[in-house]
Amino acid sequence: MSIKKISKNQPEKFEFNNESLKLANKIISNYPMGKQQSAVMAFLYIAQRQNDNWIPLSAMKYIAKYLEMPYIKVYEVATFYTMYNLAPVGKYFFQVCTTTPCMLRGAYKLVDVCKKKISQNENVVSNDGDISWMEVECLGACVNAPMMQINDDYYEDLDEKKLDKIIENIKNGQNIEPGSYKGRKSSEPENNRITLMDSKNA
Ligand code: FES
Repeated sequence: MSIKKISKNQPEKFEFNNESLKLANKIISNYPMGKQQSAVMAFLYIAQRQNDNWIPLSAMKYIAKYLEMPYIKVYEVATFYTMYNLAPVGKYFFQVCTTTPCMLRGAYKLVDVCKKKISQNENVVSNDGDISWMEVECLGACVNAPMMQINDDYYEDLDEKKLDKIIENIKNGQNIEPGSYKGRKSSEPENNRITLMDSKNA
């Protein structure tokens, strides 16, 4: 389990741009009067999207003011959930699932590839600024383990070679395809099996 890293380099000021403001106002209108603070998680996410995928402390202060709630409460939420990044991440942000099903199917071999090809330690952006990685808990795609999330998409049924290729493609400026790397659709069984009892094609 990784420890939340808060960036030492903090911008002094943060405010929502027009696009974020529009979204924030739309979200806040979903809540009854007096309950706007419930939008804090969505607001943190909007701030993260606007600020290259990480949330500075000034954004937490801005949100606290906006939602008329104590800064410490916003800080508590932001530091609790792993989906909020509190320090800069790579343009391609790898979240490697290492919970039990993924671990049993080779997640730590993927972690080794990340250590070798991106950075020895998690939450450290690669020298070219393109990639960073971290270990995360179950991402809910266990049937296609081992898997990882890169930015908004899932990459599933991975192994060392496939991950190596993904990283090379990123480094060479080529597209990377999300989904199963065994060609499965959603979570269908491998090798055309129809039931768990069907060992013919297993
Ligand atoms: S254990 Fe990895 S997605 Fe669930």
